[in-house]
Order: sequence, then C-alpha cells, then structure tokens
Amino acid sequence: MLFRLPSFFRDLWYTRGMIIKGEEKTKELGRKLAEEAAPGAVYALVGDLGAGKTTLTKAIAEGLGVTEPITSPTFTIVREYDSGRMPLYHFDVYRISDPDEMFELGYEDYFYGDGLCVVEWADLIAEILPEETRVFRLSYGGEEDERVIEEVPLGSLI
Ligand SMILES: Nc1ncnc2c1ncn2[C@@H]1O[C@H](COP(=O)(O)OP(=O)(O)O)[C@@H](O)[C@H]1O
Ligand SMILES: [Mg+2]
Repeated sequence: MLFRLPSFFRDLWYTRGMIIKGEEKTKELGRKLAEEAAPGAVYALVGDLGAGKTTLTKAIAEGLGVTEPITSPTFTIVREYDSGRMPLYHFDVYRISDPDEMFELGYEDYFYGDGLCVVEWADLIAEILPEETRVFRLSYGGEEDERVIEEVPLGSLI
C-alpha cells in the first residue's frame, strides 16, 4: 500500500522496546502518553490477555484527569469519559467478529474526532486505523511483574 510508505519510513526510527519492571512503571508510561496526546489522537494497544492494555489505559485516563472509574468496555466496544482535559474513548474490540461492526458504531466520529481514542486489541481492526495512529505492543517479560512495551509502526499490524 503505497500511501503508507511515508509513515513507514517515519516509523523506522522510533521503534524501540522498553522493559517495564512493575505495574507502577506501566502507569508512569500511561500518564506520559496522556500528556503527549492531542485531540484526534489514536493509541492502538496490542498484546495478549493480561499484558497490561487496560492497566495502561487506566493510567492514560488518570493522566487526562478523568475522574470516573474506567470499566471494561468488552460488551459495549466503546466507552466514553468526559471528565478529563479532552474526551477519552476507550475501545475494546476483542469481541468484534467483523470490522463492519465498527462502521455501524460510527467509528470515524471517534477516530477523527475531538478526543483521544485508546483501542485494546487494535490489531483486529488494523485496516481501519488512521495513518497517524501510535501503536504500542505489550508482551510478557521474564518475571511475573515484567512487561515489554514497544512502540511499533502501524505497518507492522497489516
Ligand atoms: N509491569 C506490569 N505492567 C502492567 N501490568 C502488570 C505488570 N506486572 C503485573 N501486571 C498485572 O498484569 C495484569 C494486566 O492486566 P490488564 O491490564 O487487564 O491486561 P490486558 O488488558 O492486556 O488484558 C494486571 O493484573 C496487573 O496487575
Ligand atoms: Mg484489557
């Protein structure tokens, strides 16, 4: 897909892995990512069950100043939180069987909207993620409380 080439080259240099020791470090990263977010940003989180996607999302919410509790959106696909410095749209697309469900949901209003979208299991809907999406891959580390979190190119999901 030619139109992805520029971001592919841009992405080459920022791919890096980070060993995270302890949940608090994951939370620090989440709060930092909240600071970096501008309206219309999309953060795609990929990684196995228990890798830390929801933990990271909760810290992003905290960093935005969201005061409502973050609950799992598993049965609703998306939940919206409006108490922070910009809206947070938390997606969990694990149970999506067809990307058409995203169209029915009106996903474009979220992805190209006024808030920050955080998408758990984003690899399942890789083809509809905006070109500017930041992708974070979370995996298990060597110890119980270790994780590896790396920012990877969007092209690596497709
Ligand atoms: N370094 C770490 N970062 C994030 N979570 C960790 C870490 N170490 C242990 N954990 C635990 O791993 C689990 C991650 O769960 P969760 O965030 O719900 O994952 P996911 O949403 O990817 O399924 C939590 O129980 C958390 O306490
Ligand atoms: Mg989760």
